[in-house]
Amino acid sequence: MIAAAEQSAKTGESVNTKESLMKFFLDTANLNEIREGVSLGLVDGITTNPSLVAKEGGIDFKQHVAAICELVAGDVSAEVTSLETEGMLREGREYAAITPNVVVKCPLTTDGLRATRQLTSEGIRVKVTLCFSPAQAAKAGAAYISPFIGRLDDIGQNGLELVRDIVEIYNNYTWKTEVLAASIRHPIHVIETARAGADVATMPFKVMQQLIKHPLTDKGLDQFLADWRKSVSSKPVQNVNPLKEVVNVRQ
Ligand code: G3P
Repeated sequence: MIAAAEQSAKTGESVNTKESLMKFFLDTANLNEIREGVSLGLVDGITTNPSLVAKEGGIDFKQHVAAICELVAGDVSAEVTSLETEGMLREGREYAAITPNVVVKCPLTTDGLRATRQLTSEGIRVKVTLCFSPAQAAKAGAAYISPFIGRLDDIGQNGLELVRDIVEIYNNYTWKTEVLAASIRHPIHVIETARAGADVATMPFKVMQQLIKHPLTDKGLDQFLADWRKSVSSKPVQNVNPLKEVVNVRQ
């Protein structure tokens, strides 16, 4: 990071180590949702957590993560469940060995930060999760930091403000850590995290579907098709050479 800053100072160019487009991750461990999301072309990665994995019921965790990685080319997060650094390191190394796109997820505790530092030094990418204050995010030193929006809103605090604060702080420096906004409950959360400049928004499948849907789109399409059916007949066009003939669609 210091090298990047020095280079920036020398050349006068800004150092942007991040992607130039916001990424959408699905926050799910459900293979059907992942398949469907991938088919929409909107899924850049997957986040899972122990609660989401438990919902799938009676699965082998590592096999399940491998199955997700077969469906998605981007980052797939797998969360450790140990509370102590040693256990996190053991789990983290095992999960990282599944495929190169696995990102190990560690909680934002002192043990979690120790594990993050060690795993990162071994070349294993880590996402620090359960972040609820800018102070916690300050020097996490991971590949991703995950502020939880909805859970702060639930207790009467402003989850989006947390995302804005973290992005502002990181933008003051040459951080490589990407801000991955989590605990997203509705499309407004996605729009506002994009406006704040978060690198990634991870969302439930339902929210991804809601992003696309608008009642006026459906209403407008119904109207277009109703008008079309009233007065336009469509026969197959045969042997039309677009270079020679101009087809007047009003004929
Ligand atoms: O995966 C972590 C986070 O997105 C959980 O969201 O809705 O359970 O607060 P939620």
